[in-house]
Amino acid sequence: MSEDSVHDDETFMARRNEARERIDALTGAKGGDAEDRQAWFEEVYSHANGDAAAIPWADLAPKAALVEWLEKNPGEGRSALDIACGLGDNAEAIAAAGYKTTAFDLSTAAVEWAKRRFSETAVDYQAGDLFNLPEDWRGRFDLVHESYTVQALHGELREASITAIADLVAPGGKLVFLNRTREEGTLADGPPWPVMPSEWRRFEEHGFVLHTESYFQIERPGRSIPHVLAVYRRPEVSG
Ligand SMILES: C[S@@+](CC[C@H](N)C(=O)[O-])C[C@H]1O[C@@H](n2cnc3c(N)ncnc32)[C@H](O)[C@@H]1O
Repeated sequence: MSEDSVHDDETFMARRNEARERIDALTGAKGGDAEDRQAWFEEVYSHANGDAAAIPWADLAPKAALVEWLEKNPGEGRSALDIACGLGDNAEAIAAAGYKTTAFDLSTAAVEWAKRRFSETAVDYQAGDLFNLPEDWRGRFDLVHESYTVQALHGELREASITAIADLVAPGGKLVFLNRTREEGTLADGPPWPVMPSEWRRFEEHGFVLHTESYFQIERPGRSIPHVLAVYRRPEVSG
């Protein structure tokens, strides 16, 4: 299935719009403190009653930009971690490209749902909090993939997310960062809160070296949404 399929499905999108009103009314929908925001994610998944239309970010397909990158960068048995995996489509694409893949999400409901969707999966799905992951995950993964998590966080969690993601990449490993963007210095009325260049360039403070940076638009009815796919490499010995 392509990433666009659900967006072209009128009944699916009608259910999504209906659900949006309900979940936008929940505490934490517009931000709030870290605890409220984290509880909101769990509520969104657990109140969806198994209907992916009620998960505003669920495409039921891997991100096209990730798939394109994976075609040129197969895993050949290397390890990968998918950050905040949601319903699992990106993690499955990473595993299908030959990476030994682990995926985690804060929401246990999301993780259980992903396991049900992909019952024969090779992915190791786990419930986990980006800010409290197992100590032995630090510097462990040859590929770390992050899409749409940083833009879904704000305030102290957002600040901390760049460091938390950087910590997971093995020396010599790669980080694939895919998020919506906004111009430097502009305000965002989120969620989501698209990322500014100065935010993802903070990976460089962790010794990462920019490999490629592609800007592109995703087209939705009546609007074009700017995105970045930034690929970083962590040197063998971090500076
Ligand atoms: C906008 S969704 C993106 C999901 C998926 N990465 C994608 O590309 O579709 C953000 C995800 O982050 C998860 N999340 C939020 N805070 C998290 C945290 N502290 N640790 C792990 N996952 C978190 C949410 O449960 C949700 O699944």
